[in-house]
Amino acid sequence: MNLSSLNEKLPLFKGLNDTYIYPIMEALPTSFRIGMKQTIVTDVRSEGGGITTLRLHLKNASILRHLKAGQHIELGLESKGKRICRTFSISSSAQQSKEFGYIEVSFKVNANGALTPLLNEQTVGSKAVHVNKPNGNFTLPLHPAKEKSVFIAAGSGITPILAMLEEAAFYNLISQCLLLYYVKDGEHYPFKERLSALHAKGLSFKVMPTKQTGHFALEHLTHDNPTSTKRCNFFLCGPGNLIETASQALLDQGADRSQIFHEHFGLPITAQHKPIPAEDNAMSAHTVFLTRSNSSFNSPANTSLLISAENEGLTPNFGCRIGACHQCICRKNSGRVLNLKTGKVSDNGPEDIQLCISQAIEDLSLDI
Ligand code: FES
Repeated sequence: MNLSSLNEKLPLFKGLNDTYIYPIMEALPTSFRIGMKQTIVTDVRSEGGGITTLRLHLKNASILRHLKAGQHIELGLESKGKRICRTFSISSSAQQSKEFGYIEVSFKVNANGALTPLLNEQTVGSKAVHVNKPNGNFTLPLHPAKEKSVFIAAGSGITPILAMLEEAAFYNLISQCLLLYYVKDGEHYPFKERLSALHAKGLSFKVMPTKQTGHFALEHLTHDNPTSTKRCNFFLCGPGNLIETASQALLDQGADRSQIFHEHFGLPITAQHKPIPAEDNAMSAHTVFLTRSNSSFNSPANTSLLISAENEGLTPNFGCRIGACHQCICRKNSGRVLNLKTGKVSDNGPEDIQLCISQAIEDLSLDI
């Protein structure tokens, strides 16, 4: 449970939560946090293309009862008396998890990160990793309303899609699936073996090395797949520009919005892609005043508040950096921000904002 969900559940006690309860929760070992379950790490392996997979067995797998393929999960690890939590995509199918009581998460090790460098072979056998309930709406329908499911992934955006494809294979739906996978290197890409195994079971699968193919274009999909757009559901996962370009191309081709499902990996969109009202000067730097520390920093155009703060040597809390985990939430006292995920501009009054997906469009005051 994080601060925002606690505040949602107990809105009357929000002030109390901010001041007392959350700092206490932060100080507790992960095992004492509400909803977090202890796991045992039983496997750590490389999936190629710089991706590592961690298998976590749960003693009590009840939190996996409602797991759906494509969801993500928060992991917490105690290290040097500090709790570090991050959100990861689950790369194993929901069916595997329910049957065998484990989940697998896959990630790129960030050498400068706080958590991923600690999740290595030495973790095998350890009970230090805890998990929260899986979450997320980017999931595979097990009774697809359309004839075909088309998956479009780029880079690490393949992770939740792999879980969905393995789920589809279990339910004998894999021959109805088509995957377009944009990668840097057409020879060495993540999950090559697992994708080949799915291909052997009937997955239509095209690897698109972007140096040769460029980024998404509609003809990549239609060239040898004459299926009408109207008969497909589309699942998109990758950086914001892939989602934006592919969604627009599919809509132009006659697809309905209800046929397109997506999950952003990386910062979702940039200010240039959204229609910012002309009077909102999103292209300039703005001053962000921090009331608790009585200091300020500059937030340049097209840069999230989290990155701007870090560029100025500040160290705000963060987890996923893509708007999923809510660890970077802070109180805005005044000023308007652009939500880089939804494209919406906020009011200028007090509200909670996520630093990783908010961009200043005027001078701000934050309660940090
Ligand atoms: S860091 Fe996860 S929501 Fe901002």
